[in-house]
Order: sequence, then structure tokens, then C-alpha cells
Amino acid sequence: FEVTWDASAAEKGGWSSFMAKEVSEEPEAVANTLRGRIRDGAVAITELDGLDDLFRGISRIVIIAAGTAAYAGMVGKYALEEWARVPVDVDLAHEFHYRNPVIGPDTLVISISQSGETMDTLMAVKYARERGAKTLSICNTQGATIPRESDAIVYTHAGPEVAVASTKAFVAQITALNLLALHIATVRGELSADQVAEQVAELEQIPAKIQHILDDEQPHIEQFAHWMADTRSVLFLGRHVGYPIALEGALKLKEISYIHAEGFAAGELKHGPIALIEPGQPVFVVVPSPRESPVLHSKVVSNIREIHARGARVIAVAEEGDAAVLPISDEVLRIPLTGAITQSLLAVVPLHIFAMGLATAKGLDVDQPRNLAKSVTVE
Ligand code: G6P
Repeated sequence: FEVTWDASAAEKGGWSSFMAKEVSEEPEAVANTLRGRIRDGAVAITELDGLDDLFRGISRIVIIAAGTAAYAGMVGKYALEEWARVPVDVDLAHEFHYRNPVIGPDTLVISISQSGETMDTLMAVKYARERGAKTLSICNTQGATIPRESDAIVYTHAGPEVAVASTKAFVAQITALNLLALHIATVRGELSADQVAEQVAELEQIPAKIQHILDDEQPHIEQFAHWMADTRSVLFLGRHVGYPIALEGALKLKEISYIHAEGFAAGELKHGPIALIEPGQPVFVVVPSPRESPVLHSKVVSNIREIHARGARVIAVAEEGDAAVLPISDEVLRIPLTGAITQSLLAVVPLHIFAMGLATAKGLDVDQPRNLAKSVTVE
């Protein structure tokens, strides 16, 4: 009689992969990033105590990051501009500091990095500091290099992420950016206490809503991914925060399933991507909320109509109760109702599950995709 002990299997806690475990931890990643930072309907980030003058003194924000973190940054732009009313640029870290960017003491440079060690991002932060900009790091790793090089830190509390492709850290980064945007909006007097409380209430419901997607939709999405295992190319469309979510859906698919995947802003469809649509082409569409964003909803529905008419196989990621997508979609992946910006935190979940399901159906190692590293510490 021999007891075999597989340390790696034990660390996965019964899950088939770290990625499966980490996707299942997305609700906790959001909840833990919110924990202790909400008091009486207001945002209270203790790490930012004493920095009110910094937030009042800035006239613009530049977000720098690489990979998935950069897509979280793009979602952050919508939150920061909508709520804090500060103009935001999002830059890939490696495109930032070799082009003489216009920054100075009134610029807040927000870096986003799960590991806190990505060399491109670190170099960009150092460069920003040398130019006199203020720097704030959103990071998942206590004591990592990038937060140590920054004036302020907001940690995400997603817990250690092992799978190379980032999932739970992504939702934690968006959560932290939402909190930060509400914090800056409060300090600068851009939102009333009631308006902040309303957004905070939406954020607090996100963990349960992600859990609902995992409980009710995951088996169906995995089955669907299995059917799609022979697909050679997948397109993703989205608008507003759905645009970076489309980019993230495409990145995850190419990273772990080695399928050609591309994300587009839905409004760009007529400016090029529609030429790619031929019968049978799978297209995921992140559909804005009909209640929260009626105008954008109708625009995206007409995009779907156009590609459906050309024979695309439409997979809509749409709110529960959104009936407009039914006659023009081949599949509808449902997400619960939430605010226009927090929708990003729900819409990404089916896309993470789909990428993982498809890679698993192809028999690939979802945790260690070929050619990729968890943390890229060279330029
Ligand atoms: C690598 C990883 C990605 C990650 C990116 C940025 O490319 O494979 O999953 O999004 O680095 O990493 P960071 O640690 O800076 O968030």
C-alpha cells in the first residue's frame, strides 16, 4: 500500500488546472479587493490617506500596463472619465517611454501589474517618476518592485495567480480601478455621496453575480466550447467597456487555445472587420445593457443584425431578459443586470470560461501555454 502525494494536484484544490481554480475564484477576487474599502456607502481606501492634494492637483491620468492588465486599464479609463472627470490615456508600457510622452507634475501615471515585476511596466514607471509625474501602482503582489517604485499603491487582493493567462487578477484590477475612480471623484467633488453609494452598491453585488454565472452558465459554456473545438478563427466585438472585454476575450483565446482571435470595437465593424464576415464565422458580441445604455444597445444590436445577415455565427453575451438579441443570435450567454461600467466584470466571465473550455477540449495545457511566461521580466 502506497500513498502517492501530488503536490501540484493538492495546490489546485481538486480543480483540473490552476486556471479552472482561478476562474472559480473570480467572485472572491472581487470581494477581497472591495473588502475594508467601503464604509457607509462611501469608498475608503486607507492606502490613499493623505493623498487628497495629489488627486486634486492632477489634470490628467495616464494608465500604463501590458497584456491583460492593459485591458483592465482601458476599462479603468471609462470609470475614471465617467466618475472622476479627469482625462485618461491608456498606453502600453513598452510604447510609452521610448517616444518622449508629454507628462509632468500634473500627470498621475497609474501602472497596473499583477506580478509587479513586468520589466516594460517598471521601466515606464521609472521614466514617469524621472519626469516628475506622480505614480500610483495597482498590483497583486505585496512588496513587488513596481509598487516599491511608486508614490502610492492600491493592492488587488486576488490571491496568488499561477496560471500564465490572467483571469482573477483581471477582475480584481477592474474592481480596484472602479474604487479608485470613485475615490478620486469623491476627493474632487465630482460625484455626490448618493451617486457614489449607488455605484458602490453595484460593486458590492458583483461577487454574487459572477458566482451566479459560474453556477448557472459554466457547464453550458463549456459544452458549447467543446462543440467549437475545431474553429480556426473567432472574432470578438464590443462597445464602451465591452470593447476592452472583447480584446480580453480574444487575447485569452489566442493565448491558451492557439486559435486566431481578434477583438474589435463594434463601431469599427463597417470600417473594416465586416469584410471578414463569411458564413459560419463565429463572432462573440458583448451587448450593452438595454436599460443602462439604451442607445449603445440599439447600435450593437444593429451590428449583430448586419453580421447575422451575412451568415456569421453570433454568440451574444447579453443581459438576462434582453430579448432583442434572440432572433439574431445563434447562442446567447446570459449575464445578470448591473451598471454600465460594472458590466465589464460580468461580461468577461463567460469569455474566460469559453477560452478555458475550448483549450481543454483541444487537450492543451491551459496553465502553461507554449512560448508564454507568467511574468516577463525582460524588455
Ligand atoms: C504576461 C502574462 C499575462 C499578463 C502580462 C502582464 O504576458 O502572460 O497574463 O497579463 O504579462 O503581467 P503583469 O504581471 O504586469 O500584470
